[in-house]
Parts: sequence; structure tokens; C-alpha cells
Amino acid sequence: MTNIEMPRLDRDGIEDRSFGRFGRAWSHLRRHGLLEPLRLVYRHGPRASLGFIRRNIRHVMADRLAREWDRRHGVDTAGSIQLAALTIAGPHRAKGNEAVCTSPKTFDFIMKSLPRDLHDHTFVDIGSGKSRTLLLASRYSFAEIIGVEFACELVEIARANIDRFRDSSRKCRALSVVEADAAAYGFPETPLVVYFYNPFSKDVFDIVLKNLVSSLERRPRSCFVIYGSSSHRAIDWARPAIRETGIFRELSVRPMPGFLDAIRPIDYAVFRFQAAA
Ligand SMILES: C[S@@+](CC[C@H](N)C(=O)[O-])C[C@H]1O[C@@H](n2cnc3c(N)ncnc32)[C@H](O)[C@@H]1O
Repeated sequence: MTNIEMPRLDRDGIEDRSFGRFGRAWSHLRRHGLLEPLRLVYRHGPRASLGFIRRNIRHVMADRLAREWDRRHGVDTAGSIQLAALTIAGPHRAKGNEAVCTSPKTFDFIMKSLPRDLHDHTFVDIGSGKSRTLLLASRYSFAEIIGVEFACELVEIARANIDRFRDSSRKCRALSVVEADAAAYGFPETPLVVYFYNPFSKDVFDIVLKNLVSSLERRPRSCFVIYGSSSHRAIDWARPAIRETGIFRELSVRPMPGFLDAIRPIDYAVFRFQAAA
């Protein structure tokens, strides 16, 4: 009998790589023999091997906390959802990153860098996945909260989450998700907080940033841009790209602690639009 590893599906029937880490390790051991861990340490070195083990333990712990958060709030936002089998709007499937959500502690920490009063601002999450960030943002007083997501299945899950979300501290109820390629999205002409958490590669980011800059030049208004990045080190190209527009000033922010509920350590930067004098 051939040993084919079937992808593990989440409760909405889409592939979720958060499941089965121990199962995958065990079937790898069975295929390659009990000496395989020693061979791997020899090939990659003790430091890299330790890093690998640490990353996996962290992932399993954070994933448990995420599923617990979901249970408490009656939603489904956890997991590492692969884009390959999803129905995608627009030409940028290959440039998109898997759907992994921002952790609640990470989000609240980032929000401390923004002014407290944002009641007239629209929060826009570019690449909003299953909507975790939209739900977290609804506990702040935004005028409106919009997610932009190009994977049809994730949009459906996100909309169901928005309907089901239970949280007594919810302050904003105007939540919606636009099913679109972010590169084709037109920003609302309101004050904005635009949130990116590692959604895609630089070429797509450049298009979205250009659209945002044109929108702000056409109609100057308050705008904050938050860029969060994890293992892809996207912050290394996103930060200079935002600075080079010449219209954003980077705010000084506190370094992100290593929260246990975050699947990966996160670097972030926050910018404020400066209208030309
Ligand atoms: C790392 S997840 C971030 C999820 C969410 N923003 C959060 O912080 O919880 C990246 C998301 O961006 C979406 N995405 C990638 N490329 C996109 C594009 N061109 N247009 C819209 N969404 C995109 C992916 O489907 C995925 O859901």
C-alpha cells in the first residue's frame, strides 16, 4: 500500500497545516528510520535543529491558544491555511502568503502605538484571511472596519465569523469583507488605519501602496499604516518602500514582546501620513 499523506482539513474543509505536526514528524520517522533525527542534526547543525524544534513547539502552543480564543468567541479564525486549493480573485495567487492570523496580544500591543481616539477612522485590513484582525479591531471605536481578501472560501468563513462573534467589549459593529485582489481595491475616502500582516510579495505591495498614495494625494486625510511581518522578513523591504513615498513619517514604537499566542515572532512598523505643507 502506498503511504500518501492526505492534507488535514479544518472544519470548513480547507487545508490547514497547523494540524498534524506530531503526526507528520512520526510518519517521517517511520519512513526514514529512528536514526533520522540524528542524521538531521548532523546535516543542519545543533543550532538550526534547536531552532526548528523551538519553532514547532511555539507553533503548537500558539495554535492551541488560538483555538481556545475561537471557542470562547464562537468563531473559526485559527490555522495556517494554504492558498493552493482555494478559489482566488485576480492574477496574484502565486504572490500571496498563507492565511495565518495576527494574535490577540500582538494586535492589542500594536494598537498602543496609535492615538486613542480613532472614532472617525476606517480600519482596513489588507488580506484579512478568516477575519481575526477585523474582530479584534471591533473592540476599538472605529467608524467602520473593512477586510479585503482574495480567497473566496476565507471570505465566506470571515463573514460567518462576523455574524457569530461574541464579545461584550465590542465597540464597532460596522464590519464587512470585500472579496477582491488587494491590488484592485480602492480605499474609502475617510480617515484610515491600513493594516498589513505579511499578506503578499513586494510587487503586489508596491501596487497597493501606490493606490493608497494616490488616494491620499487626491484627498488628503489622516492615515496610519501598520506593517507587521514575521518569518518572511517582509519588514525589510516594506519599511523602505513606505518611507520612499516621502509622505509617511515612521512613528517610534516599542519592540514587540514574544507573546505565547503568536505563531511567529513579529516585527512591526507604524507610519503616519504627513500632508504636504
Ligand atoms: C498572513 S495572512 C493575514 C491575515 C490577517 N490580516 C491577520 O492579520 O489576521 C495573509 C492573507 O492575505 C491574503 N492575500 C494574499 N494576497 C492577497 C491579495 N493579492 N489580495 C487580497 N488578499 C490577499 C491571503 O489569502 C491571506 O488570507
